[in-house]
Amino acid sequence: MALYPPSPAPPVAGTRKNEKLIFAPSPDTPLATAAAQAAIAARAAAHTAKAVAGDVSVSGTSSGMSTPVTPGRAGQFLQHEIHGGLRRRDLDPASPIAQFHAWFAEAKAVGGIAHPETCTLATASLPSGRVSARMVYLKELDRQGFVLYSNFGTSQKGSDLFGDEEHPPNSWASLTFWWESLERQVRVEGRASRLPAEESQVYFDTRVRGSRIGAWASQQSSVLVPSPEKEGDDGRLQLESWVAEAEAKFGSSKEDGIENGGDDQQIPVPSFWGGLRIVPERVEFWQGRQNRLHDRFVYDRVHSEGGGEEKEEWTVKRLSP
Ligand SMILES: Cc1cc2nc3c(=O)[nH]c(=O)nc-3n(C[C@H](O)[C@H](O)[C@H](O)COP(=O)(O)O)c2cc1C
Repeated sequence: MALYPPSPAPPVAGTRKNEKLIFAPSPDTPLATAAAQAAIAARAAAHTAKAVAGDVSVSGTSSGMSTPVTPGRAGQFLQHEIHGGLRRRDLDPASPIAQFHAWFAEAKAVGGIAHPETCTLATASLPSGRVSARMVYLKELDRQGFVLYSNFGTSQKGSDLFGDEEHPPNSWASLTFWWESLERQVRVEGRASRLPAEESQVYFDTRVRGSRIGAWASQQSSVLVPSPEKEGDDGRLQLESWVAEAEAKFGSSKEDGIENGGDDQQIPVPSFWGGLRIVPERVEFWQGRQNRLHDRFVYDRVHSEGGGEEKEEWTVKRLSP
């Protein structure tokens, strides 16, 4: 007997462009009455029927609803109602970095947010302007900005930020954090630049040996080619061969007789890998409130005219939700 029964098969995805496959998925807050649910479900079904008949104009979206069962009311952000929301006087008046530090400490302390350092990094390729976004971990915060670690030799973010033969560099980058149990979002926009190798080395040394070898081995985001000699290989073998090469370069931990992977061994940080610091130009703090009337405050860096050392100055403005 299987320990965990298999989940029911997902519904077959619709093939029509505007057929709604997911619609108002908030089962935790169902509509007040069965009649209200039925009415919305009927409207959704009618929309789908029209779509299937090719009767509805499509505005380029692929979301849709093939089985618009019982739609829920979209959830409410209520946590902060009892605290009166976020006010200007709650914010650090001088620095969004200090404000971020305070919110991050709360996100760590509150429980229920397993990895508050998880965020989305967005970059844009030039000259097309095409944007790409991916999850990363914030690893450091300092007075200058937000630091994460990655491969900049072969990844999309590396090409977007630092350019290559076909793309000019575009150092603008954005980070977005979402801390659900606090109902808080933080958005960061700024210019990104690489940390010097010595600084990256300090973080690199904290990683377990396997991850340091992995950083050397992986040509991040490049296509892995299946081996013609090994039936059934889908490309994973190529990655494993690169790991073996990196192991050979630095000496196998097994040869050292160190069972835990020889974590003490010094491995230099690869030149194509390291820290990226995003120096913010704009940081927004978003606190969820009832009825979508959220509190939003945005810090914008002020660039003063004239020579001399630039003093750090920010404006703080409240934004409409
Ligand atoms: C939760 C999570 C955290 C991640 N953290 C990192 C990270 O800190 N650095 C990194 O290079 N990739 C990280 N990744 C992988 C990236 O999302 C992405 O696959 C990779 O960086 C290649 O992206 P790119 O080619 O678009 O630049 C993480 C993925 C997840 C799901």
